[in-house]
Amino acid sequence: MELFNVYPLTPINIVRAKGSAVWDEQGNEYLDLYGGHAVISIGHTHPHYVETISNQLNKIAFYSNSVLIPIQRQLAGQLGDVSGKSDYSLFLCNSGAEANENALKLASFHTNRKKVIAFSKSFHGRTSLAVAATDNSAIVAPINQTDNVVFLPFNDEDALTQAFAAYGDEIAAVIIEGIQGVGGIREASIPFLKLIRQLCDQYGSVFIADSVQCGYGRTGTFFSHDYSGVNADIYSMAKGMGNGFPIGGIAISPKFQASFGMLGTTFGGNHLACAAAVAVLDVMKQDNLMENAAQVGSYLIEELKKFDKVLEVRGRGLMIGIELPTELSHVKKDLLMINKIFTGEAKPNVIRLLPALNITKEIADRFLTAFNERLKA
Ligand SMILES: Cc1ncc(COP(=O)(O)O)c(C=O)c1O
Repeated sequence: MELFNVYPLTPINIVRAKGSAVWDEQGNEYLDLYGGHAVISIGHTHPHYVETISNQLNKIAFYSNSVLIPIQRQLAGQLGDVSGKSDYSLFLCNSGAEANENALKLASFHTNRKKVIAFSKSFHGRTSLAVAATDNSAIVAPINQTDNVVFLPFNDEDALTQAFAAYGDEIAAVIIEGIQGVGGIREASIPFLKLIRQLCDQYGSVFIADSVQCGYGRTGTFFSHDYSGVNADIYSMAKGMGNGFPIGGIAISPKFQASFGMLGTTFGGNHLACAAAVAVLDVMKQDNLMENAAQVGSYLIEELKKFDKVLEVRGRGLMIGIELPTELSHVKKDLLMINKIFTGEAKPNVIRLLPALNITKEIADRFLTAFNERLKA
């Protein structure tokens, strides 16, 4: 059987990894500032992570949600502490799309409404509702097309106010990334997030904070939406949550009433995934990773702003977008092929840095030196 050919692949076979270093099969070392797309939060093969998962694996890896799984409660407790949302409850699933799918479904159950407001350049995943709320027609199949999702311009307060004035009592949810990732590292403005909160309260709609990429401590606060000082009703999360072990979830405000069967999953919240997530939160707390993300991130952003050839530097903490002119569109590839540094990208010319939250200033400097070299070449 051949693989279904949907990914344009970089011809590198990574066989080993530690911290922010990865090695290919020839033994070449690379610096990983991409984290497999914002997934590696505490560094590859962190000893506490490996030990926690191994111990769990030797006890039990999986049983379904038909029995007590105490490690789910442990994870929920730790998540409540670190996020400051201890009065929220947790539903566990397996991916970011699934988290958003459940968030949107829950909003619709709760309000008994169908309309969703999403924004230009948004990305919320590839399952039916999540992709319908994603602003990329190329990945929306005909069966996913729906009039229930309305796209408004990002950060446009007038457009949002007008939409609510016109059909606010039909709006089940507003879904927004705190910082758009795929959309090119674009931050939702604080007044815009406050306005979403105010209009959702006024019209009884649900505020969904997609934190799949921008959450989990990456920007220096647990959820990047926290910078606005308002709470969302549902936070979706995934990527950094399991440091590579598939797990996702939604944190749900106390205003929602659960009922048996309303949401469900076979694999979500399994023992092994929860062990991975618990290990991530242990390390985040013990090593003050949110603080480190804020500090090293600010340093990187300030230093990157000093490069004349860079058009714009966007983002917060360790979610950084470097906008380059078209003639420098080769820099990302050269960083990988010449300097052996993995970075992410957003089309057309944005380099995305999404490293582990424990990168050091020395690693940041290694990148800055290489980046300087590439801009000069
Ligand atoms: C903001 C955001 N939401 C949702 C998703 C979908 O997550 P997953 O690929 O785990 O389904 C992504 C993935 O890139 C994302 O960046």
